[in-house]
Amino acid sequence: MMRKFGLIGYPLTHSFSKKYFSAKFEKESIWDCQFDLYEIPQIGDFEKVLAENPDLEGMSVTIPYKQEVIPFLDELDLACAEIGAVNCIQIRDGKRRGFNTDYIGFKNSLTSWLGDILPNALVLGTGGASKAVKVALRDLGVEFLAVSRSKGENQISYSELANEPDFLKKYRLIINTTPLGTFPKTEEMPEIPVEMLNESHRVYDLVYNPAETMLMKACLEKGGKAKNGMDMLVLQAEAAWTIWNS
Ligand SMILES: NC(=O)c1ccc[n+]([C@@H]2O[C@H](COP(=O)([O-])OP(=O)(O)OC[C@H]3O[C@@H](n4cnc5c(N)ncnc54)[C@H](OP(=O)(O)O)[C@@H]3O)[C@@H](O)[C@H]2O)c1
Repeated sequence: MMRKFGLIGYPLTHSFSKKYFSAKFEKESIWDCQFDLYEIPQIGDFEKVLAENPDLEGMSVTIPYKQEVIPFLDELDLACAEIGAVNCIQIRDGKRRGFNTDYIGFKNSLTSWLGDILPNALVLGTGGASKAVKVALRDLGVEFLAVSRSKGENQISYSELANEPDFLKKYRLIINTTPLGTFPKTEEMPEIPVEMLNESHRVYDLVYNPAETMLMKACLEKGGKAKNGMDMLVLQAEAAWTIWNS
């Protein structure tokens, strides 16, 4: 019998997960698994998908349902509950458990890149991905500060960052969780004072297309190091696979 997995979201025009899992099943000769797209115009249709596919064992969740899906689940993993967003569901013995594999993917890719002794971090952007990043940083014991276009507690603005050189001395890891720099608008980048960057800085850009963003390039040109979001993307998919099979 085929084991079934899938993705819910709307719209689902270019899904990384579908491509990733289809290629994985083929490459690893996993012939008894299939991964399907369930493009649902409203979250209420999630129940219909499950009713029509009672043998689904695992689902990935993407925009716009990472939060809206929570009331449809029985349990949330601890980090996932703290983040308040689900991107992976395990369905077993009639129970639906939610996980956040962006958290796992980010945490593991960051430590395998920089090791266990990590610099203080600036987190650019305050959207869904930033929440997974912040919980991961907290769990790794990294001091961090958010940078946002809007005012809020425990966060600074881009102009405060530009006008106060001490921020880039104290925080040497810059994590971009904004979509700025993503194809096709590859000329865009967050407004950070690049002239203050030096060889001690590290840029971790969650953007993975293009492979080298303008922000990464700016840091590399000053002698620093930079990493894109591709490892995180692959690790979050593999974390989902582990959860579905554990
Ligand atoms: N590599 C991976 O595995 C992975 C995983 C998840 C997400 N991502 C990528 O991470 C990015 C963010 O995802 P998300 O779901 O968090 O998106 P999102 O919810 O739309 O949030 C992004 C945040 O970026 C800031 N922002 C948006 N437009 C901006 C602009 N024009 N200028 C400056 N700041 C802007 C906003 O924060 P403020 O309003 O506070 O400024 C916003 O909350 C996307 O590019 C996504 O593809 C990658």
